[in-house]
Amino acid sequence: MLEGTKISSQSQMTTVFNIAKDTVLFLVLSCYYILEALFWTLVPNAIRPMKNLRGDVVLVTGGAGGVGRQLAIKLARLGAKVVIWDISVEGLQKTCQDVTDEGFKIKSYVVDLADKSSVYFTAEKVKKEVGKVDVLINNAGTVFGDTLLELNDDAIETTYKVNILSHYWTVKSFLPDMIKSGKGHIVTVGSVAGLLGTYRCTDYSATKFATVGFHESLFTELRAHGHNAIHATLVCPYYINTGMFHGVTPRLMPMLEPDYVAETMIDSIRKNEVNCIMPGSVRYLLPLKCLLPAKMCWDLMHRVMKGPQSMMEFKGKPKVS
Ligand SMILES: NC(=O)c1ccc[n+]([C@@H]2O[C@H](COP(=O)([O-])OP(=O)(O)OC[C@H]3O[C@@H](n4cnc5c(N)ncnc54)[C@H](O)[C@@H]3O)[C@@H](O)[C@H]2O)c1
Repeated sequence: MLEGTKISSQSQMTTVFNIAKDTVLFLVLSCYYILEALFWTLVPNAIRPMKNLRGDVVLVTGGAGGVGRQLAIKLARLGAKVVIWDISVEGLQKTCQDVTDEGFKIKSYVVDLADKSSVYFTAEKVKKEVGKVDVLINNAGTVFGDTLLELNDDAIETTYKVNILSHYWTVKSFLPDMIKSGKGHIVTVGSVAGLLGTYRCTDYSATKFATVGFHESLFTELRAHGHNAIHATLVCPYYINTGMFHGVTPRLMPMLEPDYVAETMIDSIRKNEVNCIMPGSVRYLLPLKCLLPAKMCWDLMHRVMKGPQSMMEFKGKPKVS
């Protein structure tokens, strides 16, 4: 009886000692991590080492317009072998024209991301025709901009299929080869609407919140399994002037330009950043939603920012069938 008590108090002591040891180590390393992050924040991109994408196969979904088209053009200029996917045949042709006009090569595939078998089929075609994908940018997105009771069931399902489910099919298609070769990067395009619920976006915001969970969980899986050479970046931009949210006029901050968003995204990928929130100031405002009283948050959103009122003007883009 006494022997048993002795053993259990010894194992408790060992547990306490191990927790204390890990905590001290964590605190020491944290000082280093903070100093490192501060240092890299102060060093301009022009003089810091950045990942070279020359010769890498970079696949951009939603490459037929908006941010996706800007990404395709800028990545081609950096010497990447760009592959674009989209449902819009016309839009794909326009992006290919823009890239080839500058003297670069590009490959495009018509694919409906809402159709799982079409995603898997096209992924196999890319592997055969182009080779292993080094950087996967899950950028395509769709928004209907209706309130919950106005949204028809098909619209809700399409939003989920395009904005989040397709990420599972593309990552399942391309991640194994990245792991095998010990090189890869998965970029998940979320939104500030995935960090803060938005009026007329019960479907859109929910899928963008899901992208955050998807990215964070995938990141933990990669690190926990020692795949440290496979990088993951989450991109959360504020409104972008691409027509996706046509009609909306935000009160306090103007919409971001697609050129700026694509440039910032590529810099973030080349720096292997885990999170990229645009504009950066949003990072400091977001914690307020947990810290301030709920009534104050609503008043800030409704009275000062007029977020819901500006989304009431939403017209959006016509959908490609
Ligand atoms: N525009 C914004 O205000 C804003 C803000 C934050 C985040 N985002 C996100 O940024 C990303 C790019 O948005 P954007 O502004 O360039 O939008 P966009 O509408 O200009 O481009 C999205 C592209 O996705 C394609 N797409 C839509 N459904 C598809 C499907 N079923 N299969 C294949 N392709 C499909 C479209 O054809 C289009 O070319 C999206 O994920 C979007 O949710 C946009």
